[in-house]
Amino acid sequence: MTSTLRPPAQPSFRRDDWQQGYVSQTEEQAYWAEAIEGQLPPDLIGTLFRNGPGQLDVNGQRFHHPFDGDGMISAFTFTGSRVHFRNRYVRTPGFIAEKQAGKILYRGVFGTQKPGGMLANVFDLKIKNIANTNIRYWGDKLLALWEAAEPFRLDPKTLETLGPEYLDGLLKPGQAFSAHPRIDPGSRRTGGQPRLVNFGVQAGLSSTISIYEFEADGRLVQQQSRTVPGFAFLHDFAITENYYVFFQNPVSLNPIPFVLGLKGAGQCISLDAQKATQILLVPRDPAQPVRSFDTEPCFVFHHANAFEMGDRLAIDSICYISFPSIDAGTDFLEVDFDSVAPGQLFRFELDLSTGKSSARRCLEARACEFPCQHPATVGQPTRYYYMGVTDAPTGNAPLQAIMKVDLEHQSTLLEESVGSTLHSFAPRGFINEPLFVPRPQGQTEDDGWVLVLIYNAERQASDLVILNAQDLSETARVKLKQHIPYGLHGSFVADTFGVV
Ligand code: CO
Repeated sequence: MTSTLRPPAQPSFRRDDWQQGYVSQTEEQAYWAEAIEGQLPPDLIGTLFRNGPGQLDVNGQRFHHPFDGDGMISAFTFTGSRVHFRNRYVRTPGFIAEKQAGKILYRGVFGTQKPGGMLANVFDLKIKNIANTNIRYWGDKLLALWEAAEPFRLDPKTLETLGPEYLDGLLKPGQAFSAHPRIDPGSRRTGGQPRLVNFGVQAGLSSTISIYEFEADGRLVQQQSRTVPGFAFLHDFAITENYYVFFQNPVSLNPIPFVLGLKGAGQCISLDAQKATQILLVPRDPAQPVRSFDTEPCFVFHHANAFEMGDRLAIDSICYISFPSIDAGTDFLEVDFDSVAPGQLFRFELDLSTGKSSARRCLEARACEFPCQHPATVGQPTRYYYMGVTDAPTGNAPLQAIMKVDLEHQSTLLEESVGSTLHSFAPRGFINEPLFVPRPQGQTEDDGWVLVLIYNAERQASDLVILNAQDLSETARVKLKQHIPYGLHGSFVADTFGVV
């Protein structure tokens, strides 16, 4: 395992190429794509929505970290023969106020400070809701999500911001609602009906996790709150038929530098590598108690999937051996990739009868992030994952390739797994989160497409690439007129919302 940290002999990218993908995109456009290579699949019909920080500065005053950037939505509408593109900012009050002022007015979670140093930032705990992390359509509402506060509702056709969304009074202003909902495709528990499941966490000396389940029409059908000891930094979770799965990373929060205005809240988190990571199983049945399992210390942002097999429960997650910290004095554009721990795909297994976890197992050692799968297998055993990976099998670098992992042909603890297929965009392409879209009436789990937005440094613009999910060959490439800064998460909806 240690040799996977070794940097490759030749870097797969040029740093200035990679940095260009972080230039703010201030223009909002809407057009039918004219430059398309290959053949658009006639049965790929619907809308790909993506969210991410589109603006990395205000009038040249840079945010400290891209995670502090204002949310910009991109919508790609596929009609079967054409693609319509639109991008638009989420008009949050903070975005509007800073636009009008022409300067940074708020501190960011990831270290952005107002100009003026410590005196301007001390005791200012107001944080801007930037709505920049994910976008989901559910119950006739398109929501831009940011985990620390309420979502913003958008018009799915025009991307116009309709306002903050409190979900029929479920949320209070400023109340946390995670950016990582899971869609349960339906099981015995839900009467075979799909549900959107999401959580919000109020973290402190102890942390309260509120968990919600919504039916397809948006109606809340289940809600529960659980309080767990310690500071819970929960970005993502996983679901199975009977459980919600959370990883309580062994982190501690020292809020003093944040309160004093020296650091952002996200910079006050540190990983205690001596402490166990706790896997929390919260039963979907609110009458059952929470169960906690200790496992090796690690940090997890994203889970791929979780599923039950009788008395056992498995969770596949992207693990970091240390918290990828964002130092106050460091420019993220100059990050030394070799000094940052890569994310790697691990499997954790819990024995529900003994309450013990077995040693975690590495499924893929290559640096990876942003796993996805067929939506019908969420919370159930699945065969394939698609994820963003580095071009080289070892070391850490920007993500430039898409990997398909075949769990049925997985050799474990090998440096280069045999059960994988790779499509690399190196040296000049840099990837965003891939999304698997099943072919309507598809027959196999990998019958469909992987949609991935790449930053193409050769054109200094972005391409939306459609890969055939079976062999990751390129089916079509839609060349945008402009670049989209590296984003976070998105979703696909089989609806064109009247754009056609
Ligand atoms: Co995320």
